[in-house]
Amino acid sequence: MRVLVTGGAGYIGSHTVLALLERGDDVIVVDDFANSSPVALERVARLAGRSARLHRLDVADEDALDAVFATERPEAVIHFAGLKAVGESVADPLRYYAVNLGTTFALLAVMRRHDVRTLVFSSSATVYGEHQHAPYREGGGLLNATNPYGQTKVMIERILTDVAQADPRWRIALLRYFNPIGAHKSGLIGEDPRGVPNNLAPYIAQVAVGRLAEVGVFGDDYPTADGTGERDYIHVLDLADGHVAALEHLRAQTGVRAWNLGTGRATSVLALIAAFEKAVGRPIPHRMLPRREGDLAQAWADATRAEEELGWTAQRGIAEMAEDSWRWQSGNPQGYDADETHAEEARTA
Ligand code: UFG
Repeated sequence: MRVLVTGGAGYIGSHTVLALLERGDDVIVVDDFANSSPVALERVARLAGRSARLHRLDVADEDALDAVFATERPEAVIHFAGLKAVGESVADPLRYYAVNLGTTFALLAVMRRHDVRTLVFSSSATVYGEHQHAPYREGGGLLNATNPYGQTKVMIERILTDVAQADPRWRIALLRYFNPIGAHKSGLIGEDPRGVPNNLAPYIAQVAVGRLAEVGVFGDDYPTADGTGERDYIHVLDLADGHVAALEHLRAQTGVRAWNLGTGRATSVLALIAAFEKAVGRPIPHRMLPRREGDLAQAWADATRAEEELGWTAQRGIAEMAEDSWRWQSGNPQGYDADETHAEEARTA
């Protein structure tokens, strides 16, 4: 299949592009590298033995995107591009609404114009908000997130639902991710957040590699087994496979449908730190801090719908996730940066 991937150089995007190339798809990546590195795609090409075709542009630039569709003629789209830092979205909500909705409007207009109506959308478990309780089920009713980033996901799900209802030719998958961690087995691609990580796994990995001093554990008085927050961590390779499964499913189903991509298992902050300590082979400094505002005690998926309908289940456990995250982080202590500087020097030499 000819698949266009927005945000294909990002963390989940790059692993998904690799999965598509490995199964023989023709892949077109649209990315402006606002929050990602072209080095990720060079490494994906090395791993796959062939490349995705790259178009460096902002998805919100409708004319430029239109030209890409005209030449590349994609049959389906996976839409990852967007902003995703919760704290940043609280501080600058307008930017989040403008970017995440703007890119989606431009993409939908161009898709419709070129008669491309198969779309896999990168949503989030954040759409379950505070009023639903774990394990989260897709059919559980009203969606509402606690921050502007999450609200953009709720709104885009709503928009896509209306679009599919207005025109039954659309085939749309809303994939609600739980907490992606881990990296490709090669250690060549992985998560490389700009600045200090907001999320737990990259934070632990950066402490382990010596970039940060210690992990702050946000709260040890939650009503959980060890008092720390519990989440459904999912290996990014499983997540990538989930996109392939959704794309396949859409061949046979029109309309719009949501699927959770999670493992159905919860792991506490302390248990995740312990898994990393085992993978790294030494203690990881950490200390208790007060709760982080807006955090839930527990969040995990009911993953049965994806199993029944997509034939997909997460295969990899926490130990493997920590080992693979660590292989990536220890092999690339500064993420893609070192390579990027090198590439820049080579270009200007
Ligand atoms: N945590 C710490 N210390 C840290 C970072 C996190 O103790 O330095 C704890 C949190 O309190 C939470 C757990 O680790 O209990 C996971 O936190 P993350 O920030 O890694 O992930 P969240 O579950 O808070 O957020 C994730 C995604 C968001 C999404 C949200 C809800 O990152 O994009 O799930 O679905 F909105």
